[in-house]
Amino acid sequence: MSYDRDRASAIRALVAPEDIWTLRESAESLFADSLRRLPKKEVSEDERRYPTSPEGLRAFLDAFFARHYFQIQDSLIEYFSGRAFESAAQRGSIHIADVGSGPAVASLAIADLASAALEVTSKTGKLRGSGVITVHCVLNDTSDICLAEGRAILERYNRARTGRASIGRILPLSTPFPDSNTHFRRVAHMTAPYDICCLGYVMVPLSEQIGVDGTTKAIRLLAQAGNTNGGHLLLTQDKFREDLHDEICHAMGVAAEMAELKQRVYDSENQNSEHTYTYCRSCSAISEIAAANSVVAIA
Ligand SMILES: C[S@@+](CC[C@H](N)C(=O)[O-])C[C@H]1O[C@@H](n2cnc3c(N)ncnc32)[C@H](O)[C@@H]1O
Repeated sequence: MSYDRDRASAIRALVAPEDIWTLRESAESLFADSLRRLPKKEVSEDERRYPTSPEGLRAFLDAFFARHYFQIQDSLIEYFSGRAFESAAQRGSIHIADVGSGPAVASLAIADLASAALEVTSKTGKLRGSGVITVHCVLNDTSDICLAEGRAILERYNRARTGRASIGRILPLSTPFPDSNTHFRRVAHMTAPYDICCLGYVMVPLSEQIGVDGTTKAIRLLAQAGNTNGGHLLLTQDKFREDLHDEICHAMGVAAEMAELKQRVYDSENQNSEHTYTYCRSCSAISEIAAANSVVAIA
């Protein structure tokens, strides 16, 4: 991806000072607010990963929210330092498809990163546009509590008015992916193609539900509703499922990589310790997926 390296470094310095990821104030208060409202109770591992109850959601937020949020931002800094974001900033809007959204982890991370990117560029005066951006989100999750919390957290982000991004339309879809593709495509048709399609930590349940082949086909179909002029598709997954991540990326003809990230751990007992780990990601241009599809079609 071609991007402005100085801008990328400046954005990184803002969201991960000294390369250590911590929640910025804009997100931390929202996160703390959600935690305060939810009951703390021990839940099964499955419920913690794929929450369907208030207790499960609380456990998910405790264990995964910050970690997944950082990974999304870490993976998209180059996008936010490149031409595609310049166009989005100029038109004043960005459109997100957040599949397996959980409590809108990716949508919130993207809104806050867009805000950070605009904070950086407002100082250099290099970006055209009003200097603010509206983020339109389609949230897709089979868990009602995740969708409700996702909407609530995004609305609270708007009310806090801390940065240069605000949330526009929030469309929650409870239809399971890939059936939800019909809705994703209809929304894109009626509004605009998706600038970022994000599938964060959802490949495991998808591959269990529809197989690797079905997952690959479904993601390709979603990508057809994406912006072929600079739009990106992001997949994230933990390193323990590197095999699955690689298999899906390989089948789609896109690159898979391992990335390293250092974060301040957010749990009530160990708030200040730092923790370095690797995770799997694939961040590819939508046009690349379309091109890989045509090669597959010819073959
Ligand atoms: C591990 S959570 C990840 C949440 C968020 N994307 C993140 O990165 O933190 C996976 C989510 O996928 C949802 N999910 C599972 N199968 C799904 C399907 N077929 N369609 C939509 N969402 C699904 C679960 O309900 C769960 O909230």
